[in-house]
Amino acid sequence: MYKSKITGMGMYVPENEITNRDLTALMDTSHEWILERTGIESRRHIKKGDGNTTATMGVKASRIAIERSGIDKNDIDLILFATLSPDYYFPGSGVIVQKELDIPTCPAMDIRNQCSGFIYALSTADQFIKTGMYKNILIIGSENHSGGLDMTTRGRGVSVIFGDGAGAVVLSRSSSEETGILSTHLHSEGKYAEELSLIGPSTRRWVPEIMAANDAEDTSYYPYMNGQLVFKNAVVRFSEVIMEGLQENQMTPDQIDMLIPHQANLRISQFIQKKFGLTDDQVYNNIMRYGNTTAGSIPIAMTEAWEAGKIKSGDLVVLAAFGSGFTWGSALIRW
Ligand code: ACO
Repeated sequence: MYKSKITGMGMYVPENEITNRDLTALMDTSHEWILERTGIESRRHIKKGDGNTTATMGVKASRIAIERSGIDKNDIDLILFATLSPDYYFPGSGVIVQKELDIPTCPAMDIRNQCSGFIYALSTADQFIKTGMYKNILIIGSENHSGGLDMTTRGRGVSVIFGDGAGAVVLSRSSSEETGILSTHLHSEGKYAEELSLIGPSTRRWVPEIMAANDAEDTSYYPYMNGQLVFKNAVVRFSEVIMEGLQENQMTPDQIDMLIPHQANLRISQFIQKKFGLTDDQVYNNIMRYGNTTAGSIPIAMTEAWEAGKIKSGDLVVLAAFGSGFTWGSALIRW
């Protein structure tokens, strides 16, 4: 069995910053309400005409990750693209990245696991490298939420939370036994599938049907979130899946050097931090600046933490996510 290792990381967020105060012009909300409940102060939204899409933001993050990894783009054996907001129904966004990066032929696939999408993609990539099938895998998490949110008072419970952005990593076969991905852990519980979802338009309700109904009250094409249920499940599952990873590796919480949780809500991250007895320096949060960028959030946060010198060689880095599905997962990495 081979071991895999992150060899390059990159991120990209649109320039257009939307503060909580900007949102008060669109809906009945306040900076104080958003900050107190979520920790968010601002987020980035794609601006019409700025050229950004889920895939093109992924391309920008990927170029940085590839350059930092030191590999040639043509040495990428597989592209994995995690998103809940792909450019098109089909094809997936992975092939668009392939086209934009001008990589002639390599497999490319999309992973549809929402906030846990990056961990699912990382785990999938890890398996391909462990078996020896591939040597270099480009993994992207990217979201364009802003265009599909209900930016009125009706949608305020969801729309204030989400932001746009992308992160990417190159996962490569490692020559070291000691460093790299130690283990990954994936879970889902489909009985909550509709509790955090966007159900229309879909193949259960195609666009012509929605258009024919011409119902101004129809909100099925906006995301729905049972916020309190998500919150309650998130704090339990985050804790469980981090513990699962530690136990698998015969480790204890005090051995964690850096926890990078999916940026769902600062209150969730703080709960986990307290539960595991970690200091502010041992948990990386940037939801204040970017909101919840779903599949993008972990690779964006990991890139920022690394750029800021907060991840050092030999550190035990723990990634954890929870989101729609419900799905959740963790990854333990010896840097
Ligand atoms: N501004 C002002 N008031 C608001 C807003 C807003 N943006 N949104 C809701 N309210 C109001 C509600 O209408 C309600 O008013 P009422 O009492 O008069 O009816 C009141 O505030 C309380 O609303 P709740 O929804 O009960 O607020 P809650 O305390 O549950 O906080 C929140 C909502 C922040 C969304 C919380 O439930 C949460 O963080 N849940 C987890 C969300 C999450 O982490 N999602 C990540 C996963 S996303 C993914 O996987 C794609």
